[in-house]
Amino acid sequence: TTQHPFYDEVHPAGVQTPPQRYCIFMTFDMTAGTTATDLQSLLARWSAASAQLMAARPVGQVRPTSDVGVGRDTGEALGLDAAGLTVTIGLGTGIFDHRFGLANRRPHLLNALPSLPSDNLDTASSDGDLSVQVCADDPQVCYHAVRNLARMARDVVQTRWTVMGFGRASAGKGQQTPRNLFGFKDGTRNISTPADFDRHVWARDAGWMTGGTYQVVRKIEMNIEIWDADRVSDQEHIFGRGKSEGQPLTGTAEHDTPRFAEKAKDGTAVIAPTSHIALAAHENNDGIKILRRSYNYTDGINRFGQLDAGLLFIAYLNDPGHFVRLQRKLGASDLMNEYIQHVGSGLFAVPPAPKRGHYVAEELFR
Ligand code: HEM
Repeated sequence: TTQHPFYDEVHPAGVQTPPQRYCIFMTFDMTAGTTATDLQSLLARWSAASAQLMAARPVGQVRPTSDVGVGRDTGEALGLDAAGLTVTIGLGTGIFDHRFGLANRRPHLLNALPSLPSDNLDTASSDGDLSVQVCADDPQVCYHAVRNLARMARDVVQTRWTVMGFGRASAGKGQQTPRNLFGFKDGTRNISTPADFDRHVWARDAGWMTGGTYQVVRKIEMNIEIWDADRVSDQEHIFGRGKSEGQPLTGTAEHDTPRFAEKAKDGTAVIAPTSHIALAAHENNDGIKILRRSYNYTDGINRFGQLDAGLLFIAYLNDPGHFVRLQRKLGASDLMNEYIQHVGSGLFAVPPAPKRGHYVAEELFR
């Protein structure tokens, strides 16, 4: 199966990579009293381990040579192949506060997200000093990677929040468009061309961050039981797209370009101006585009006995302000708001891929 390189790429793994089937997203806080050297050594260890894991190798011996030894790798991925694993490491705003003496190296666009209209954020599922996005086509390979990264960092970090995603809700090059838990195709008009990646995703002229990107993560709860009671024609009105084909309501095929100005006989717009796609489309936002690389998630059943599920929304973009701008509009008038709430949030700077023999964000410590 597929193996992706960790080293010697210009851009970080797990962004332009065609979305794998599963994703575990986890954030960590540096423990009180840790130093810049602890952070540096953690990033070096995580980088070396990520390269091993992505090559389907254990991160050390599973069976120690002595009878009193503890295993280094926990073992549950032995015999499994790489399953397209990628590890993507992000740095939160906390890394650049006073603790590590790195305040003057902060990427200039890495500012805490402002509060947004749709926010109902839970601090227990928001923020973190470091983020780890692990994606693979096998959930066991995903979990093994996250577990072992967490394990080797126990001396300097504590876990903060996590979401386990399945059923990728975005398409990469050549992939069929998958569906989110509202049953609609998701990722139809996503960034796909290298020119658009250069223009909208990769950080330019950004010093040590050049070639990296920013990661915006939102845990968005979806009230799927209420949604399922809604007429499909209303659901289509909410998105501005058909449910079966995913076509814009002004077209017949999924990839037809939506015509936002088109009017019905009664004079109203065919694609409602408050539909999700009308609000989010680049035509209506000064050309802004973001890469969406989301996954579906479920947390089982909530305290009201209802299905607890939603979208692990992950976006990559070279200016987090673009997300803020879109979300201000969506949060204010998206017809979908009745059915969703944003309960978790994080913003991270994702450095470019390291060269072999080096590690993620090494330049920060020069
Ligand atoms: C498009 C679902 C949240 C930005 C779409 C589409 C669906 C969808 C079905 C149409 C197909 C496509 O082009 O991909 C959802 C769901 C969400 C959600 C279920 C939450 C539970 C968001 C958020 C943002 C966003 C938070 C950004 C702030 C976009 C953009 C498009 C889009 C930019 C493309 C619009 C176009 O160019 O036509 N979304 N979305 N979405 N969504 Fe979302």
